[in-house]
Amino acid sequence: MVELRFDFIHPGHPLYEAELDLRFRVLREPLGHTRASVKFPFEDDSLHLVLHVEDDVLGCVLFHPEDAHGGRLFQMAVAPTLQGKGFGARLVRTLEDELRRRGFRHVHLHARAPVVPFYERLGYTVYGEPYEEVGIPHRNMQRDL
Ligand SMILES: CC(C)(COP(=O)(O)OP(=O)(O)OC[C@H]1O[C@@H](n2cnc3c(N)ncnc32)[C@H](O)[C@@H]1OP(=O)(O)O)[C@@H](O)C(=O)NCCC(=O)NCCS
Repeated sequence: MVELRFDFIHPGHPLYEAELDLRFRVLREPLGHTRASVKFPFEDDSLHLVLHVEDDVLGCVLFHPEDAHGGRLFQMAVAPTLQGKGFGARLVRTLEDELRRRGFRHVHLHARAPVVPFYERLGYTVYGEPYEEVGIPHRNMQRDL
């Protein structure tokens, strides 16, 4: 019986390379970006939540604390074969529960324009003007926890 698990990991954890592979496949390769572009400068200071079956990472979402109260959710990805089954929402909810537990009160994120409705269903609202990032249109979104 295979077991899907949600776990918080850190760079250096045995699942970290598989997390980077998923992020490259889902978020960077389709845009024609290189494997090296997948890492963020604040990678080591961020929370990494992965959805996995044993060594196979099938989803992830990261959070970078910017002060004691809030920070940025980023690198939200679900493997194509698992999309549309509720795992993206479960990743965000699991992350938010942990953030509340740690005393955070606010989350903001840079949403790709077509994914704005996904975050709206989760209680996030758009603010500010549209802009381009990684070559595609984005909107800023936020919510209070
Ligand atoms: C966006 C993504 C993370 C969503 O994860 P998912 O597991 O497919 O989404 P879920 O099945 O949990 O969807 C939750 C709800 O959001 C809706 N939803 C998901 N993606 C949506 C989209 N692109 N547009 C509109 N609604 C969407 C679902 O229909 C579902 O609605 P319901 O609660 O009424 O049933 C995933 O599709 C993905 O990895 N996409 C490619 C990478 C990407 O764009 N990441 C986001 C970068 S900002």
